[in-house]
Amino acid sequence: MSARVVVVGSANLDLVVTAPQLPRPGETVLGEHFHTVPGGKGANQAVAAARAGAACDFVGAVGDDEFGTQLRASLVGSGVDVHGLRTVPGASGVALIAVDRAAENFIVVAPGANGALTDLTDEDRATIAAADVLLLQLEVPLPTVVRAADWARAEGTTVVLNAAPAAALPAELLDLVDVLVVNEHEAAIVAGVVSDEPAALLDALLERVPRVVLTLGARGAAYADRRGLRLEVPPPRIDAVDTTAAGDAFTGALAVSWAERGGDVDPDGVAASLRWACAAGAACAQRPGASTALPERAAIDALYDVTYRGAP
Ligand code: RIB
Repeated sequence: MSARVVVVGSANLDLVVTAPQLPRPGETVLGEHFHTVPGGKGANQAVAAARAGAACDFVGAVGDDEFGTQLRASLVGSGVDVHGLRTVPGASGVALIAVDRAAENFIVVAPGANGALTDLTDEDRATIAAADVLLLQLEVPLPTVVRAADWARAEGTTVVLNAAPAAALPAELLDLVDVLVVNEHEAAIVAGVVSDEPAALLDALLERVPRVVLTLGARGAAYADRRGLRLEVPPPRIDAVDTTAAGDAFTGALAVSWAERGGDVDPDGVAASLRWACAAGAACAQRPGASTALPERAAIDALYDVTYRGAP
């Protein structure tokens, strides 16, 4: 039976412009191409988990506009169960994204309907209870994130929190997290420390959560837990085209691999999960766009095999 993942999170329509370079504050640059694509960290991670092989439910909110129709269709088209997706009056979430020739981006989100996800129901609780992993981000109201995590803890569902966009977080939430996934910027804000040293960030975060996955972009990923396990995983070598949603591909695949291994993952399993997640993130960065770039399981497996063949 497939691993079961539920995402409680955001859906945005991404308005994307490619440009030779990203503008500095106050600067206007002439861009090149414009396209729209379904995105949002929550929806992206749900699609990533479904394509990586999980049965995936999405609990979220879209507006009663054309963007909402597109966002719903995108999730359904990727095999995500949307019985927990509300349509609310008003605008859907929107993200303005610029991508440069080095595949870097900046993103500004107008939450729209995502801000209306304040009414988790008994049915949502049952969906969380039926899942192996609850996957959360920070693009919906914080009380909703805390309530979902609280229900997951009570029901024995593993809580994976991708603390993006970066925010200082209350102990009320961090105490409910089983696995925290952060990049270096997010790590510094959640930990409340300033350091360029991944080891120092991991140490500080382990005071707040039991397991930390630190994504390091082109340097791969690092992991630490309170059992004393520490790992670093190098990334696949690829030519990146667009890093938008690469973190979502990583996190979605990590959640699936974690769920497939049954929650209390042994050291070899942790290493394999991190490598597989790195392969998913890299496969995503090879293609333009957000949800459109999220890899299927076969593509993740292929890049994993090429990169890590021979590793335990
Ligand atoms: O992580 C990428 C996503 O961040 C984009 O799809 C955008 O919608 C924002 O939520």
